[in-house]
Amino acid sequence: MTNEGGNRIERHPILGDASPRKEITLYFEGRAIFAREGEPIMAALVAAGVSVFRYTKKGAPRRMFCGIGRCTDCVMIVDGIPGVRTCVTTAADGMKVERQAGAGRWIVEEENSNG
Ligand code: FES
Repeated sequence: MTNEGGNRIERHPILGDASPRKEITLYFEGRAIFAREGEPIMAALVAAGVSVFRYTKKGAPRRMFCGIGRCTDCVMIVDGIPGVRTCVTTAADGMKVERQAGAGRWIVEEENSNG
């Protein structure tokens, strides 16, 4: 799963080689994708080739615009919470990420009420 999609910069001409980091797993709409510990969710998604992060109320696709938490183009549903700015939110192992439509919706996992 390492460098899935091939969009990561491993060697930068000015900054040098990427430092080694622990590998973690995110689940983008159920698909496991590789992330590097400490990087923003958006970085992992772009590296995995994800090109649409959300849709406006009228259905227009959006991706990254500002990359600094100002524009809301990158908001997604993260662990059931809508409106999370993925460009400034650190990825965590096991996180569930989904595209958002319009203002999004809360996803509440039902607890087993049989007990
Ligand atoms: S890209 Fe603008 S808030 Fe994330």
